[in-house]
Amino acid sequence: DPTAQRRPLESIQVESPNLTYAEDALYAKYTFHSAAVDKVQGQDGHVRYQVKPVEKHLEFKTERKVPKTGLMLVGLGGNNGTTLTATVLANRHNISWGTTNGIQTPNYIGSLVRASTMRLGVDSNGDDVHVPISDVLPMVHPNDLVIGGWDISGVPLDQAMRRAKVLEYDLQRQLAPLMAEYKPLPSIYYPTFINANQEDRADNVIPGSDKQAHLEQIRRDIREFKAKNELEQVVVLWTANTERYSLLLDGVNDTADNLLNAIKNSHDEVSPSTIFAVASILEGVPFINGAPNNALVPGAIALAEREGSFIGGDDFKSGQTKVKSVLAEYLVNAGIKPRLIASYNHLGNNDGKNLSAPAQFRSKEISKASVVDDMVASNHLLYKKLDKKKADSADGFVKGASTETPDHCIVIKYLPACGDSKKAIDDYTSEIGMGGQNTLAIYNVCQDSLLATPLIIDLCLLAELMTRVTYKEEGSKDFERLYSVLGLLSYMLKAPLTKPGRPPINSLNRQRQALEAFLRACLALQPSSDLVNFTQLN
Ligand code: NAI
Repeated sequence: DPTAQRRPLESIQVESPNLTYAEDALYAKYTFHSAAVDKVQGQDGHVRYQVKPVEKHLEFKTERKVPKTGLMLVGLGGNNGTTLTATVLANRHNISWGTTNGIQTPNYIGSLVRASTMRLGVDSNGDDVHVPISDVLPMVHPNDLVIGGWDISGVPLDQAMRRAKVLEYDLQRQLAPLMAEYKPLPSIYYPTFINANQEDRADNVIPGSDKQAHLEQIRRDIREFKAKNELEQVVVLWTANTERYSLLLDGVNDTADNLLNAIKNSHDEVSPSTIFAVASILEGVPFINGAPNNALVPGAIALAEREGSFIGGDDFKSGQTKVKSVLAEYLVNAGIKPRLIASYNHLGNNDGKNLSAPAQFRSKEISKASVVDDMVASNHLLYKKLDKKKADSADGFVKGASTETPDHCIVIKYLPACGDSKKAIDDYTSEIGMGGQNTLAIYNVCQDSLLATPLIIDLCLLAELMTRVTYKEEGSKDFERLYSVLGLLSYMLKAPLTKPGRPPINSLNRQRQALEAFLRACLALQPSSDLVNFTQLN
């Protein structure tokens, strides 16, 4: 019984007048410091920056009770879906397996929440004290997640796990009877959205072409799953095939009401992923998009804002893009100028097979391409501002860009013999001092689903936590929910979805620091400062 495993909570006790431990919640008073900058051009032509420190007094409330939580995956029968389910079951039942290297025990390596730590502070010797992120606030344990979901392929998960060819035989053998109990619910299949080569999998689809009826079915599925398993919270996560982009059309998917109407009228441009997003939003459960397709069209974001529901996306950031965001940040922050980034991938799993058509590849290409944009824009010493005319006439990714950008290409090829191992070969060529050149060649081989599974766990656990945190400004009466688009999930996502009009922040370092700062703020602790460590200030 997973509920029997609810973890004892709160190994951290903060003694501060700013933190109150109430029976049901933690109340943290927190002063948020930032700097407001005005850029002023003087009569002498010089630009000056006028900076005013700003303080905002906030209070965070974190509910202490961890809800019994379900995770519903769209694409449950795929490589990620089966690997996630197998990982949770192996951990929950403590199943070890034989490999050529000896006995392997289950773990959650690769999960930021379960396998990484953050610096809490210093002890009396001045030494750093690190704690598991999972211990900072009350969080769901992945062993306790009740897993379910949908797939257009109806095979039970023991067979789907075998088809995925990810896990070792001896583990599969032991898990098979447990996995066989999971059978995906029928899903929505609109053939034009995914590669035609997926058609032979589609034997488990909700009948008909009435999109409103499909929406209602998915809403019913969520409600029934919640009731049947006596869940207090559910997270829905799209880990199904990458769809082609939906066209963004005025009057169709631009506003919340237009989108709801477009579903009623079964408009062609409403994708299955958007229907899942809308169903989750209307049911008030978080929806996360782990693929690059634009499930969260503007109308879906507007609907989430209106309903106060939580959404996050897009596209798991598991391998090449994670490295790219780190390398681009390192280079640009070191004052080195990347001039070209060329990324060649080949992979042999069903994801690769689906991405072998131009429309699905394009979704992935867009999602992978934007990751260096903000790093480039952050350094006007290296990258010149472009005049608008020149930018508009440029091709490819740089079209319309306001700054010069590196040449950047992304190639993905499907080679079945690769299996679930994705091989990424990257060339970063940069300009260094006095016209010199530096090339970094990276060869990244990763078992894709084993990298993606811990991200799914993190996304689910953190999204659930964010439903329990509310805040208010000093003096106001009521606590408010966080903003609907969960930008704090950016660390796990390739093309972080943001509030409309706000640019994403791709720096992995900043993404992690923001998450740590948020967890600390909920305990009335300021962001960790290394000033003392580096300067030995007393
Ligand atoms: P997969 O192809 O093995 O699994 C996808 C599953 O979705 C299949 O079982 C398919 O039958 C099912 N499906 C397709 N359309 C569906 C629908 N409308 N409703 C329900 N199920 C549907 O792919 P994999 O490797 O599990 O990846 C899943 C998604 O995650 C892909 O879109 C991929 O691009 C994305 N992704 C994966 C990463 C990784 O490292 N594995 C990294 C970044 C993104």
